Amino acid sequence: MLPYETLLKDNKEWAAERVKEQPDFFKTLSELQTPEFLWIGCSDSRVPANQITGTQPGEIFVHRNVANLVINTDVNLLSVLDYAVNYLFVKHVIVCGHYGCGGVKASMTSDDFNQVLNMWLRNIKDVHRIHRSELDAIEDEEKKCDRLVELNVQEQIFNLAKTSIIQRAWQNDKRPDLHGWVYGLNDGIIKPVYEMKAGTHIDPLYEYKNL
Ligand code: CO
Repeated sequence: MLPYETLLKDNKEWAAERVKEQPDFFKTLSELQTPEFLWIGCSDSRVPANQITGTQPGEIFVHRNVANLVINTDVNLLSVLDYAVNYLFVKHVIVCGHYGCGGVKASMTSDDFNQVLNMWLRNIKDVHRIHRSELDAIEDEEKKCDRLVELNVQEQIFNLAKTSIIQRAWQNDKRPDLHGWVYGLNDGIIKPVYEMKAGTHIDPLYEYKNL
């Protein structure tokens, strides 16, 4: 059996198992999607949103990209955010990074990864520059990388708060709260590192009026 055929076989077994446990499992799910959470995570195969949070299909709306970045020109991410906030009415947006993130590690080198990846990783280099003094004081390279992972998540929370999508929802509906988390590949534990409640004021430079 070819590797991808195994996936299809396992899928049939998984579907059968769900129906055995709960006969109307798929009927209920197909009729309604009301997740409370939007998850913005890393594409890393070791950080699957549902498995590590013990949640079921239907519970988390998910967007993943390299190093869980929130970039204000990323139409893909902004479409997901708009849909989750304005149509699914999620109450929480979670940005979840992970220690040992390959994207963050790559951004700490001077290597040329060619234009597209260079473009993407530039955003993490900018986070590094903003927090340069704190990071420069950490000598151990792994610890420095871990801290950059945390600071990267924090900056992505700020990037969310800078969008008119979030600011409008905060003004009109007092949601969603924003949560910055980091997952440990070594122990499977998620550490909350930054939180921004709905309605928090940010630098006035980024706050819109007449929303
Ligand atoms: Co990663």
